[in-house]
Amino acid sequence: MWVLRQGWSGMKNTFLLCLLLAPLSASSDEVTVESLMTRYTELSAEPETAQALYQQGQERARFCFSCHGEDGNSTRDYIPNLASQNPVYLFTQFEKFASGERKNYVMSRLAPELTADDRIAIAEYFSHQDVKPRTEGEDISVVPQQSGRQLYESMCFACHGTDGHGNEQIPRIAGQPYTFLHSTLLSFHNNEEKRRNSPMVSVIRNLTEEDLEAVASWVARMP
Ligand code: HEC
Ligand code: HEC
Repeated sequence: MWVLRQGWSGMKNTFLLCLLLAPLSASSDEVTVESLMTRYTELSAEPETAQALYQQGQERARFCFSCHGEDGNSTRDYIPNLASQNPVYLFTQFEKFASGERKNYVMSRLAPELTADDRIAIAEYFSHQDVKPRTEGEDISVVPQQSGRQLYESMCFACHGTDGHGNEQIPRIAGQPYTFLHSTLLSFHNNEEKRRNSPMVSVIRNLTEEDLEAVASWVARMP
């Protein structure tokens, strides 16, 4: 109706406004995992924009380094590595922390502050870091259990891959710190509020506490 009354010039202005707003809405209100992935795929496809994105990511991730490590290898046993994590998983978790579906004191406050550009650049930076064996913390004394290997090879490989590196939709878990893995598995197992609505809840419902320890000990040492 408004367009009819305004005539052509009104329509033209509406059209121009849409054009102007398009980049804005992509970087603020309409942040979805899909929109981030589309933009990320575009930017990381060209070597030049990928390089710029990586540098921007390194800059914007500074605030994360004290916990997740400068190269994405976490500084504490209870904190996950972000190195080599797939971008879709990172986008999904930012979204879950921001919406309250996943809860953690620090991350729930941090995630909503990250703009679309921050998320894309940070994902480019961390996904290109390598996971390294841990050198500090109590987790280095955990011995990988063979029963954990059997559990992995019968129950986990189908989704997380035989090497635990996941894929575009499933997170990498290989080489995560034992403490993080164990406490995360317990949260899924007990269907804690911290990580509700995850497909993992039903996957490991019937495992015992010893099973969770065993499989965590194995996954932590996967390269
Ligand atoms: C003060 C420490 C701290 C800082 C700073 C911090 N994080 Fe975290 N982060 C954590 C902890 C602890 C967890 C694990 C929460 C849990 O147990 O579920 C986590 C989890 C995450 C996860 C989920 C990873 C997974 O494997 O499930 C992502 C993604 C993440 N952080 C990104 C970031 C980014 C990006 C920054 C910087 C902008 C950042 N974090 C800064 C402590 C921190
Ligand atoms: C049906 C597919 C499927 C199977 C089987 C499966 N997982 Fe998962 N797993 C997922 C998905 C999907 C996620 C992401 C969950 C989310 O976002 O809440 C996940 C998340 C995880 C996480 C959290 C990773 C992180 O960084 O936050 C751990 C740890 C994990 N799985 C371990 C395992 C183990 C160990 C097994 C075998 C006992 C297993 N998974 C079997 C699909 C699966």
